[in-house]
Amino acid sequence: MPGPCRILLVSGSLRTRSINTAALRTGLAVTPDDVEAMLYEHMADLPHFNPDDDVDPLHPAVADLRTSIGAAGAVLFSTPEYAGALPGSFKNLLDWTIGDPQAGSIYEKPVGWINPSPHGAASAIASLRTVLTYAHAEIVDDACADIPITPAAVGEDGLVADAAVRERLAAVLTTLAVVTETRS
Ligand code: FNR
Repeated sequence: MPGPCRILLVSGSLRTRSINTAALRTGLAVTPDDVEAMLYEHMADLPHFNPDDDVDPLHPAVADLRTSIGAAGAVLFSTPEYAGALPGSFKNLLDWTIGDPQAGSIYEKPVGWINPSPHGAASAIASLRTVLTYAHAEIVDDACADIPITPAAVGEDGLVADAAVRERLAAVLTTLAVVTETRS
């Protein structure tokens, strides 16, 4: 019998009090019983992407990123917008996913995103769609949702208590898991 659907949660922000990371961490807390979600927390360890370095032996942080994606049935992203674009650190992470030749890479993997920005972050989201399309990920539109979260909504525990937000996060995770199960 196959195990629970595994979803890797990837934040595009390195900030300690990040709204995006708080949203994903809250997603961990509301993950449905038959879904196993994991938060990727090593973006700061990745080296600058250089195709010359995309050879064995890979930098350990790159190998870890690719292993984490490979172990997941799906990936859920949440990213801020910086100056009308994706944060450089996050684009760097995405660049490292694209050349991965291993089975289970981002290629044809179901992906979704949440957008917690109260201001829209439309350019970052459009850019994320472009990059994931180049990566040949399978964008699950029903698992791509604007879920506005203000900084004040993030509690001292780093989580969002608002019931409506939690319900919407759980719905996105459920949708992504259901689509992933139908693909496997
Ligand atoms: C921003 N922010 C921002 N927001 C936006 O909607 N469009 C933008 O172009 C920018 N540009 C921008 C540049 C820089 C240098 C900073 C520091 C911030 C606001 C930013 O997206 C917002 O503060 C998010 O909450 C940051 O995400 P985390 O770290 O809270 O997850």
